[in-house]
Amino acid sequence: MKKILFIASEAAPLVKTGGLGDVVSSLPSTLKKLGHDVRLVLPAYRIILADLQPLTMVATIDMGLEYSIRILQGTMPDSSVPVWLIDSPTHFDRDGGPYIDINGDDWPDNAERFALFSLVAERIALNQAKLNWQPDIVNCNDWQTGLVPALLVAHTPRPATVFTIHNLAYQGIYSHDTFKFLQQRLQLPERLWSVESMEFHGMFSFMKGGLIHADILNTVSPTYAEEICTTEFGYGLDGLLTHRREQLFGILNGADYTTWNPATDPYLHSNFDIDSIEKKSANKKVLQNYFKLPIRADIPMLGMVGRLVEQKGCDLVLAILDELLNKHDIQFVVLGSGEKKFESAFSQVAKNFSEKMAVQIGFSEDLAHHIEGGCDMFIMPSRFEPCGLNQLYSLRYGTVPIVRQTGGLADTVIDDNVDPAQANGFSFYDQTPVALLNTIERALLVFKDKTRWTTLVQQGMNADYSWNHSAQQYLDIYNKALGIVNK
Ligand code: ADP
Ligand code: GLC
Repeated sequence: MKKILFIASEAAPLVKTGGLGDVVSSLPSTLKKLGHDVRLVLPAYRIILADLQPLTMVATIDMGLEYSIRILQGTMPDSSVPVWLIDSPTHFDRDGGPYIDINGDDWPDNAERFALFSLVAERIALNQAKLNWQPDIVNCNDWQTGLVPALLVAHTPRPATVFTIHNLAYQGIYSHDTFKFLQQRLQLPERLWSVESMEFHGMFSFMKGGLIHADILNTVSPTYAEEICTTEFGYGLDGLLTHRREQLFGILNGADYTTWNPATDPYLHSNFDIDSIEKKSANKKVLQNYFKLPIRADIPMLGMVGRLVEQKGCDLVLAILDELLNKHDIQFVVLGSGEKKFESAFSQVAKNFSEKMAVQIGFSEDLAHHIEGGCDMFIMPSRFEPCGLNQLYSLRYGTVPIVRQTGGLADTVIDDNVDPAQANGFSFYDQTPVALLNTIERALLVFKDKTRWTTLVQQGMNADYSWNHSAQQYLDIYNKALGIVNK
């Protein structure tokens, strides 16, 4: 039995902006089921304080601010994993998202917010917060926690550290002035300002703290682990990652089939499984009704859910939408939010093709489940994708994924042309609109052949991307990290 401390900036269902939230909820839950003592540290955002009950104040810590930081303890709603919330009201008790304000701009004090969070997490990791619990392993996630391994490395003894990269594109890079400010306000150690530590081309990089100082690194698919060691996907950190290649692992995310299971999903109008795929059509009808699209069982319905940002290939989709909708008898529904230019471009196409296309801007767990439950195809032409969870949910919901061959998409979607006996979707490699259009048209052709289509759907639904196997791989890298720190 291992004592494992997860440190992260979001965890579903308490707070979620994307797949990170899903993983930070389901991986600890699986490890707990495997018999490990897992705890989670999160910022005490307003939304969590409002929703999570009961909360008990278990410690206070003096971090040199005008007030003491409180540590509140609760348990995760679905898994009973204990969670410690770092309660610093000026930093986290506010309206808006975890990283952005209500206008969609980054919080101007993000560096200070996540530096403070990491400094308190360091105390917890060292059992200096009077919580009477000493982890063997600390698993940090993404740039918001990159400072933690950099702080812990200066202590002996200390827990082993694993830094999980969910997305290298977001690095938490700030100016030297910000570093100076953090030094003054939070007593960040001077040693961090060095190219051997967190200095990155004259800037202060939270991500680099994790990449340099964690005992073991991992990312969320084997292909993305390869990709980030190249200039195309490495954002200037490929040299460092290549240097650490022996300590860098790629572990595919799992899907949480307790939440994402069409047979039991409480959001769905009609539950179904591989032996009752025909019931899926009732969900399609509900979706068409919701979006005020013509109710037709025979028409191929395409769906897309996600952050509307460059990463997700929004520009590729927008480039082909007119031609696709003009040429084909299809319906297309989109749920997402992100960059304003993409939000308005998708909305405009929906206005132009109101009989065929519908768009909802915003975040809706409910509608995300309905789209997976009702559509025939799921479009995910990401320019890069560390893992991607939506294609995993699509597979389980019999919604055939159409993806670009990158990162976790390349590791999970097998194209109909490549290996029909195992195929579960369609994929393309070239980052061009024409490649996407051709691939969707290939799928539309196969859709007409009901026997072939059903085989594809069944092969997808049969695939097992649950956490069990991946959680075991996390335990393996925890052992490796322990081996390094105990040497
Ligand atoms: P990423 O983490 O890059 O956003 P993933 O595919 O790993 O991509 O995970 C995205 C998760 O966030 C999925 O659970 C997806 O359903 C959810 N999601 C993204 N955008 C929305 C939205 N607008 N409404 C509801 N759920 C969303
Ligand atoms: C990131 C990635 C996504 C991944 C998720 C969870 O947000 O963009 O591909 O699935 O993290 O690891």
